[in-house]
Amino acid sequence: MQHIQSRKDEHLELCATREVGFRSRGTLLDNVRLVHQALPELHLDEVDLSVEILGKRLRAPLIIAGMTGGTPRAGRINQALATVAEACGYGFGLGSQRAMQDMGGAEISYQVRQWAPTTLILGNIGVMQARDMSSSAIQQLVGQVGADALCVHMNPAMELIQQEGDRDFSGGLSTFTRLAAELPIAVVAKETGCGISKDVALALKAAGVRAIDVSGAGGTSWVGVETLRAGEETQALGELLWDWGIPTAVSVAWCAEVGIPSIATGGIRHGLDIAAALSLGACAVGIAGPVLKALEQGGQERVRRFLSRIEQQLRAIMLLSGVRTVAELRARPRVITGELKDWLTPSTLPTR
Ligand code: FNR
Repeated sequence: MQHIQSRKDEHLELCATREVGFRSRGTLLDNVRLVHQALPELHLDEVDLSVEILGKRLRAPLIIAGMTGGTPRAGRINQALATVAEACGYGFGLGSQRAMQDMGGAEISYQVRQWAPTTLILGNIGVMQARDMSSSAIQQLVGQVGADALCVHMNPAMELIQQEGDRDFSGGLSTFTRLAAELPIAVVAKETGCGISKDVALALKAAGVRAIDVSGAGGTSWVGVETLRAGEETQALGELLWDWGIPTAVSVAWCAEVGIPSIATGGIRHGLDIAAALSLGACAVGIAGPVLKALEQGGQERVRRFLSRIEQQLRAIMLLSGVRTVAELRARPRVITGELKDWLTPSTLPTR
């Protein structure tokens, strides 16, 4: 399975060094305006960023989103990022554990519990791989890494651009239903950059999925990453669909309407993005591409500084919104403008 290994390292290289973001469409999180509070009646130190998610408390509502595993380089990345997550009270996601099934000895690159004994760790497997595996085999993958919950990812757009990718996407929903019923830990449904629609969120909730990582449009484009690797046959399709997907802000609002907890991943780049996502109902946010870039540029220290800076931004924004907690931020009024308003009409925003 040498090709999986080289593809994984190629993905890391492209995401760390090339322009793989959405080109002309964004998350629409900037269409959420929070209302300034001139009399906050709070000390900055009183602002509490902590949240509870999937049975664990995070010191700040940040998750380093699932990226990698399966190669020595991937193992070093997982170790470094899990160490930061543990030290700073963030959640940590592993990349697809498919390589653990396909390649002997790959599990070591995913085993981060020794560096992150208390952190929320999310396992990861593609829904199409999961479809073809028994629940007990999946449970074994989760057990080997000591994950608290399993992200089951969906990535049909990326697969269509990948020359060697899947073409048969049948049986996805029934796989979620089976795993939610048979696994002893929570199942999180995760996209990878194209977002989740309201009908899919409803179906996943009915299937017993505990939370949705929306991984919406506006951040890293996986169609884009695959387009950079594509041969002649799929390159034009990749260029056409580079910006395909539902913006992160829209998917978060739809999950809130459906009443399923969401993680806002996809294009989260600063504290205003986080505050907007939380205000729309997200429980926490996930960040992938920028964390990898920070690690490549300056190691663990650079990752810590990057995440601590956006944490400080969020703290300032919460103070300026007059709220002490994330729950209070969600309850505060906000103004929905621009294209986000178009996407959310005629549906009504959740009332809280
Ligand atoms: C990813 N992502 C990802 N997602 C997943 O569910 N399983 C995986 O194995 C991977 N692999 C992966 C590798 C790299 C290098 C990156 C940058 C990303 C997707 C990731 O978790 C996230 O959903 C998207 O990248 C959107 O977030 P950002 O990058 O815009 O913050």
